[in-house]
Amino acid sequence: MLNVVVLVSGGGTNLQAIIDSVESGAITNTKITGVISNNKNAYALERAKKHGISAQCISPKDFETRDRFNEVFLETIDSMQPDLIVLAGFLVVIPEAMIEKYRNRIINIHPSLIPSFCGTGYYGLKVHEAALARGVKVVGATVHFVDEGTDTGPIILQKAVEVEQGDTPEVLQRRVMEQAEWKILPKAIDLIANGRIQVEENLVKILP
Ligand code: GRF
Repeated sequence: MLNVVVLVSGGGTNLQAIIDSVESGAITNTKITGVISNNKNAYALERAKKHGISAQCISPKDFETRDRFNEVFLETIDSMQPDLIVLAGFLVVIPEAMIEKYRNRIINIHPSLIPSFCGTGYYGLKVHEAALARGVKVVGATVHFVDEGTDTGPIILQKAVEVEQGDTPEVLQRRVMEQAEWKILPKAIDLIANGRIQVEENLVKILP
């Protein structure tokens, strides 16, 4: 049984996709042990509570220093004994000690086809604004392992989405969520839960 902890900061639609997929059996061999947000008002916390999943807020704002937050944050994660940590719209920088300790056991969903429109400053609507400004005809989403960089870890799954005439950033964001994010994030968790993901020299193999 894969023990999963989900880290969130906002509305939690990706968390909801994971919850629904576990409940429907689309994700097997998996238990969502807990949800942590840095934002006490994140609706994602409500979504977790509605499904009887432990939900708590740990915010850097509540600590004297970032180092102290990082320590308590990692202690809290460790206490939940995760096999997999899922960043589902989590906007706090992951402490290096945590990346080291959970190497290739932290995954992130990014709303673009990495290496396009990713890295520092590319998050949320900014990603879709940049894609529309560049005039690309295809966008999408990526699930990748988290390493020390920003959106630079080994890519697990990607899914392309068409840009349509007249798209606004909000409309495009929603389409990428519906058609890509909410599909490949649960799929990636299911693959990991069933031992079908192998990382070799920073490249991901999906086993039969
Ligand atoms: C999603 O667009 C995701 O790609 C990005 O942050 C957003 C989170 O949305 N990382 P939600 O909180 O899952 O609704």
